[in-house]
Amino acid sequence: MNFNNIDFDTYFKNYPDANGYYGKYGGAYVSPELKKAMEDINEAYFTICKSSKFISELRRIRKEFQGRPTPVSYLERLSGSLGNVQLYVKREDLNHTGAHKLNHCMGEALLAKFMGKKKVIAETGAGQHGVALATAAAYFGLECDIYMGSVDIKKQAPNVARMKILGANVVEVKHGLATLKEAVDAAFEAYINEYEDCIYCIGSVLGPHPFPMMVRDFQSVIGIEAREQFLQMTGELPDAVVACVGGGSNAMGIFSGFLNDPVDIYGVEPLGRGEKLGDHAASLKYGTEGIMHGFNSIMLKDENGEPAPVYSVASGLDYPSSGPEHAFLHDLGRVKYDVVNDEETIDAFFKLSRMEGIIPAIESSHAVAYAMKLAKQMGKGSILINLSGRGDKDMDYIIENYGIR
Ligand SMILES: Cc1ncc(COP(=O)(O)O)c(C=O)c1O
Repeated sequence: MNFNNIDFDTYFKNYPDANGYYGKYGGAYVSPELKKAMEDINEAYFTICKSSKFISELRRIRKEFQGRPTPVSYLERLSGSLGNVQLYVKREDLNHTGAHKLNHCMGEALLAKFMGKKKVIAETGAGQHGVALATAAAYFGLECDIYMGSVDIKKQAPNVARMKILGANVVEVKHGLATLKEAVDAAFEAYINEYEDCIYCIGSVLGPHPFPMMVRDFQSVIGIEAREQFLQMTGELPDAVVACVGGGSNAMGIFSGFLNDPVDIYGVEPLGRGEKLGDHAASLKYGTEGIMHGFNSIMLKDENGEPAPVYSVASGLDYPSSGPEHAFLHDLGRVKYDVVNDEETIDAFFKLSRMEGIIPAIESSHAVAYAMKLAKQMGKGSILINLSGRGDKDMDYIIENYGIR
């Protein structure tokens, strides 16, 4: 398929280019020492991860340990309540550890093992990436340091406990807003001193090249499975695919399966409390081009051009930028990026729980909320939602702040 002069038949061969660029976005803006570490990882990725030994081991792990393929479920009662549009969910909540994050963590940790590294290091927001990486580290017998902001440590207590039980060292980050951006800063700083023996396992399609590409490729299993499953279930492709976008890994995972199809694709960002800077984390909708955490993308900036403070009810979405490939697809118009606010999200959280018996993560509830609005606009057709994770981690927070509705 050709879209705005981009040939999507050959898209994955051409993007990113050899230097990690998706158009003008991406790259690797890091110190000379880290540049060397990134080049080593890039080379290892193309030699090790493309080898049949690595691929067959990852396939085995996905099937025997992660429980893949995750199913696609038809949402009969929710669809019925919205009119004539049929809603389906790709059940990443049923992936081991309860979210899509394990897809890239097992890949990254397997790479670390092949490279002879002893330790993995990462940041986490909602704690899902931290839990997934702690799980992968336990599986492969690697040490694991997880950097997490104090605010998120309090909000996501069950995930903190899980990481500790799995043997990870949770490092509290207290400065600034003490959320995801500060956790990334701290984890990168630690990595600079330890890169010989350890590998940074970023939590999304973010950071310097090759991370956005590697994470996308490991997550593409979602889109590959979902496309085949949807065709098998319905005999056709969905009219629309919807996913929430924080850094953008679950979204790139499912989108990658449909970029070359006549399917409308929607990325959903958190509008939080409203449109004022500081009240949301909708970087693609309201941001401008800029460099942070080693990559060029679209980001929310304060009056000094620095990453702006952001907010979302979902800890996993409150990041002032998104992956460079999303910025590229945004400018191209191949993916439409839109927003839902906290209130719409909480409403969707309860609707999916009550009408389908699936408690979604607050992050994923953003995608559900948007699909519910889209269904009303479309009037007919089908929507496939990526249900990126389950909501067990969010239940105490929801009950404390919103009560039972
Ligand atoms: C369940 C869930 N969905 C989505 C996200 C957002 O991350 P990404 O945009 O990389 O998929 C997170 C992040 O922690 C998450 O835990």
